[in-house]
Amino acid sequence: MRLNNLIVLLSATTPLVAASPLSWLGLAAWDVEGFAKDNPIGPTTGGKGGATVTVDNVDDFKAAVAGDERRIVKVKGELNFTSRPKIGSNKSVIGVGKTAHITGSGLDVVNSTNVIIQNLKITFIQDNDCITIRNSTRVWVDHNEFASDISKGPDFYDGQVDIIRGSDWITVSWNYFHDHWKSSLVGNDPAFRDIDFGHLHVTYHHNHWRNEGTRGPAGRFGHQHVYNNLYVDFLYQAIHSRSDNQVLVEGNVFRGKTREALSTYGLVIPEDSPNTCTCGDEELDGFANLGARNDWGDAGVNITQVGTFVKAPYNFKLTPLPLVAPIVKTWAGVGKI
Ligand SMILES: *[C@@H]1O[C@H](CO)[C@@H](O)[C@H](O)[C@H]1NC(C)=O
Ligand SMILES: *[C@@H]1O[C@H](CO)[C@@H](O)[C@H](O)[C@H]1NC(C)=O
Ligand SMILES: *[C@@H]1O[C@H](CO)[C@@H](O)[C@H](O)[C@H]1NC(C)=O
Ligand SMILES: *[C@@H]1O[C@H](CO)[C@@H](O)[C@H](O)[C@H]1NC(C)=O
Ligand SMILES: *[C@@H]1O[C@H](CO)[C@@H](O)[C@H](O)[C@H]1NC(C)=O
Repeated sequence: MRLNNLIVLLSATTPLVAASPLSWLGLAAWDVEGFAKDNPIGPTTGGKGGATVTVDNVDDFKAAVAGDERRIVKVKGELNFTSRPKIGSNKSVIGVGKTAHITGSGLDVVNSTNVIIQNLKITFIQDNDCITIRNSTRVWVDHNEFASDISKGPDFYDGQVDIIRGSDWITVSWNYFHDHWKSSLVGNDPAFRDIDFGHLHVTYHHNHWRNEGTRGPAGRFGHQHVYNNLYVDFLYQAIHSRSDNQVLVEGNVFRGKTREALSTYGLVIPEDSPNTCTCGDEELDGFANLGARNDWGDAGVNITQVGTFVKAPYNFKLTPLPLVAPIVKTWAGVGKI
């Protein structure tokens, strides 16, 4: 049986083996992998070892995610927030089934450490990002779905997963990001060099981006390892490394109307909501290194300088390039874990 057919078969027969045919086939990691696992302060475990509580309303959710105590918070149904809940340290926030859904306001992970966010649909958030990770360490954002309406332009909605103010040791995996302009900004201001430089280590793997505008991701001052992601119609610019940021880009697949897969040219392009000029904002260039082969499709690549981030400082499972698209399409998003 060809491997492709095997994958299709496995995805059709899941629940039994939901824990992960992919990991026992050695094709991809299902558990936390990358900077949220291997880092100097210890692996991300979230609420492991703490009590499990199930919440189905806004007030119970806010109470359950507050504080630093270890807790596993299972989320049922739709919660429409009017202000942003703050997720405290040592929490796992996990949607139940396929219907756990955050609307209204998004989630903040601020001044926290050791947080897992999984299996949540987060859509049409208008007050800020879907998830903002600020001054926080060890966060694993896994198997969620983020969406809005790209026709409203770059600034009607904000980011999907933004990682800012010296945050560190983050993994963003198996998420389905679609129909939204600005996806994932790492370091939100070129003036924050002192806060951000040397932090912002983020791993992005097996995410599915479809019909998005910019920032898949866009980084400043940090290090991002971007591997085995699928980009379909990432319209203006997918990976952008600027302001002395470093990216290691390997084993990704770009399809459809994706104009630019990767750029280290510092210009914040007009389509990416520059602050001072409609022609774009000038910043210092970033750096990029290429590891295992990528499939760029018809997209452009503009590497102005290579850097020192040539190899991931951890072991990881690299999915063979021809299997990236079918595996990511099948296994990213909600209802899979
Ligand atoms: C929460 O995590 C922090 C950092 O790991 C730790 O210092 C603290 O003791 C934890 N709290 C509990 C209740 O486990
Ligand atoms: C959330 O609640 C607000 C009112 O507080 C309402 O306007 C909005 O339509 C609700 N959103 C959803 C998705 O139900
Ligand atoms: C984060 O920590 C800073 C500095 O201690 C504090 O000013 C700020 O209010 C904290 N933010 C939150 C949301 O707790
Ligand atoms: C960052 O968070 C830590 C707690 O983890 C806090 O002590 C510190 O003051 C925060 N810094 C800022 C600038 O908010
Ligand atoms: C690529 O980068 C150079 C700067 O080194 C810039 O002049 C050029 O316009 C860039 N190309 C694109 C397509 O952005």
